[in-house]
Parts: sequence; C-alpha cells; structure tokens
Amino acid sequence: MLALIVAYTRNRVIGRDGRIPWRIPGEQKRFKELTTGNVVVMGRRSYEEIGHPLPGRYNIIVSGTRRFEAENCTTVGSLQEAIRTAEQNAPGRDIYISGGAGLYREAVAFVDKMFVTEIDAEIAGDVCFPDFDAELFQRTVEAHVETGMPDLPSYDYVTYTRKRS
Ligand SMILES: NC(=O)c1ccc[n+]([C@@H]2O[C@H](COP(=O)([O-])OP(=O)(O)OC[C@H]3O[C@@H](n4cnc5c(N)ncnc54)[C@H](OP(=O)(O)O)[C@@H]3O)[C@@H](O)[C@H]2O)c1
Repeated sequence: MLALIVAYTRNRVIGRDGRIPWRIPGEQKRFKELTTGNVVVMGRRSYEEIGHPLPGRYNIIVSGTRRFEAENCTTVGSLQEAIRTAEQNAPGRDIYISGGAGLYREAVAFVDKMFVTEIDAEIAGDVCFPDFDAELFQRTVEAHVETGMPDLPSYDYVTYTRKRS
C-alpha cells in the first residue's frame, strides 16, 4: 500500500516555523501504530525537525542538498526514487509519505489512502496541506477523540480511500 499520513487543522495547517504548532498528548499514536514495521518517506526539513531515524521503520529522506545514511535510513533525490527505493530495500512493506507540503502535494495525486488526523481547531501556521478533490476519495471517520482538557482540541482519525472505477 502506498499512503500518506498527516495531521492538519480545520484551516489545513501542518506546520509553523519548522515545527508542528500543537502538542496534544496521544495524538501521534496512530502515526506510530501504522508506520511501525513499514516505510516512512519525508522531506529534509521534516527529518531535520525529528533529528534521527524513526525507530522500527525504514526511513527515506528526500533531499537535493543533504545526505543522511544510517541503518534503516537513506536519502534519495525525488519522491519517485523514494518509492523505488522502498520497493527494492523494503519489499512488501507499506509506504507512508509523511510530509512536508511538497511531498504531500505530489503524493495526493496517486496514493491509495490518506490517513489524516483532523484537529478540530484553527491554528496559525506557515505550511499547509494542499487542496485536494474530496470527491475522489471515500472518507471514513475511524475514531473521534476528546482530549478531556478544555484548552486542547478534540481530533478525528480519518481515512480517505481513493475510489477506483
Ligand atoms: N502535521 C503533520 O502531519 C506534519 C508532517 C510533516 C511535517 N510537518 C511540518 O511541516 C513543516 C516542514 O515541511 P516543509 O514542506 O517545509 O518541508 P519538507 O517537505 O519536510 O522538506 C522540504 C525539503 O525536502 C526536500 N524535498 C522535498 N520534496 C522534494 C523533491 N520532490 N525533490 C527533492 N527534494 C525534495 C528539499 O530538501 P533540500 O532543500 O535539501 O533539497 C526541500 O527543501 C514543518 O513545520 C513540520 O513540522 C507536519
């Protein structure tokens, strides 16, 4: 399976000043569950924000300027090369394109599924998820999570599955 995975707000914000502009305990649980044992593909800035390969996953970084090489971690020059590398080096594993905006913009055109955490808040930011045609996908809300804290927004784990004719 070729998928993308993202968390965005009601105004589609994914980042601000190189970081994710919210901290909601537990919100990244689904990311960890889905990606562990599989492949994550991310842009150079997103990788540098994390600062190390994500454990238990094959990490592919997309960059034209830097190289990151380690056990279970390699760098390639394009998204298509990332997909080829995943198929060669981690055959049979699911591929999760994990940001940022440029990779999402490319990937939204062809991924089978989009695993989206929809944060129920408007939050200011400088990087957004691209517009996409929701008619092309079946939208399923897998879970609604209330944080139970008045200053922390609730969120939905949503799966968008591409409709095939
Ligand atoms: N909310 C979420 O789910 C989520 C997920 C991921 C990231 N984020 C946030 O998003 C922000 C980072 O995203 P971003 O869009 O600014 O940066 P990014 O996509 O993480 O990194 C951009 C860099 O990746 C490389 N790159 C991307 N596409 C490429 C391509 N097709 N070919 C070659 N290189 C390519 C380039 O690296 P070089 O400059 O080295 O060539 C580019 O400068 C941060 O704020 C982060 O916290 C949020």
